[in-house]
Amino acid sequence: MRAVDIIMDKRAGKELSRDEIKFLIGGYVAGEIPDYQVSAWAMAVFFKGMSARETAALTEVMLNSGKVIDLSGIAGPFVDKHSTGGVGDKTSLVLAPLAAALGIKDPMMSGRALGHTGGTLDKLEAIPGFRTGLSVDEFRKIIASDGFAMTGQTKDIVPADRLLYALRDVTGTVESIPLITASILSKKKAEGAEALVLDVKYGSGAFMKEAAEGEKLAQSLADTGAALGLKVIALLTDMDEPLGNKVGNFLEVEESLDCLEGKGADDLMEVTLELAARMAVLGGKAKDAKDGRQICEKALASGKPRELFLQNVKSQGGDPKQLLELRGNYRSEITTEIKAAKSGFISRIDAWKVGHASVQLGVGRNRTEDKVCPTAGVQFHAKRGSSVTAGDAIMTVWAATEEGLKVSLPQLADAVEYSGKAPEKRKLILKEI
Ligand code: URA
Repeated sequence: MRAVDIIMDKRAGKELSRDEIKFLIGGYVAGEIPDYQVSAWAMAVFFKGMSARETAALTEVMLNSGKVIDLSGIAGPFVDKHSTGGVGDKTSLVLAPLAAALGIKDPMMSGRALGHTGGTLDKLEAIPGFRTGLSVDEFRKIIASDGFAMTGQTKDIVPADRLLYALRDVTGTVESIPLITASILSKKKAEGAEALVLDVKYGSGAFMKEAAEGEKLAQSLADTGAALGLKVIALLTDMDEPLGNKVGNFLEVEESLDCLEGKGADDLMEVTLELAARMAVLGGKAKDAKDGRQICEKALASGKPRELFLQNVKSQGGDPKQLLELRGNYRSEITTEIKAAKSGFISRIDAWKVGHASVQLGVGRNRTEDKVCPTAGVQFHAKRGSSVTAGDAIMTVWAATEEGLKVSLPQLADAVEYSGKAPEKRKLILKEI
């Protein structure tokens, strides 16, 4: 077999066999097939897609590129949540301790910033000392003690996703239904989850721009998840505007703490609670989503999830006391405000434009080897529906470099749309699949 033939077959729209997929992905992980050939293949998949059979084979090959974590000996249920990627989406940081407070174990294996979207691992690592490269032993121990642990793909666990994820990030091959499906589900199966809530995002800041595409992705995830023996609930949620009021690594940790204290922004609280309610259902803690929502609201009000979050910060190498001291003042020194260009209502803040600008600020990467900046990002003082007067400060911006600030400011200003009348409310949760 030759990688170049596999690339040309995919380019011609042919269905690849499991053996061909295994040859390519296995060779990549072993260092025998170079990045440039895998990039070309990923681009061919991006344009030609994959059949359900190919997607399932890719997921399985990626899963078996490393070890599967054995959680036996720890009492379940093991339920996780994963998002298909968004801007300002920090719900994972709230959901893991919230589920743990209900007696659900969450073995959370996440990713880094991808394209214009943020990554849970980069956010967590903004907490000084926080380690996301846990060994399997540490992962197991922390799940047993805290009810959840948050880690990343390693050279032993789904190494194929670790490599492909980083490659897709910088080669324009992220927005592909089969590649997203295999990336998410290989991680979720490898981490030991039994059930999964999927937050499938659609809108400008998501990888799927239209609801219909989002629905196709949700269906691909649900079908492939079922084939792997996972119980899956998918919610199709809006990602046209950034979620919550902060975008940035440490900024989003802070906003997660607000959420754990019950005072997160309305849109963020709503999406978080609806996802949490489904985790409660899949974990057997609630009879339906309505019941689950009430149980989750009560748990949040008890303060237990916040306590568990801080306990986990300590377990994973951070210092909870230092985290609370940094809250509100751990920021890049290069900063400015963006003012409203007009008086009236903000009718939209385009999540895609904000995501792209954030990468330039230092929140994400332009090249695989780039380091993200923990203290860069954007805070919104007004969002869709806010009434503003020209000259009001609508965003505060922090950048890693002067150059990054210069490039991103016009993009951020351009992300804001104005209207003479209040915009209609958008539905945050479109449907359950
Ligand atoms: N999240 C993932 O883990 N992988 C993707 O490809 C997209 C979002």
